[in-house]
Amino acid sequence: MYVCLCNAITDQQITTAVSQGQVNSMRDLQREFGVGTCCGKCARDARDLLDAARPAL
Ligand code: FES
Repeated sequence: MYVCLCNAITDQQITTAVSQGQVNSMRDLQREFGVGTCCGKCARDARDLLDAARPAL
């Protein structure tokens, strides 16, 4: 499922990137995938995905 339509980024791409340690924050998602940098409508869903995919501390 697409999370960020502006940049064609899927939930799978985000969860994979988190599990591989490529991203760990919204800033990382913005830098690596451009998530939330265009219209911004995906920011809440992307943050929820990020929180769910991050390992508990
Ligand atoms: Fe992600 Fe527009 S849908 S910036």
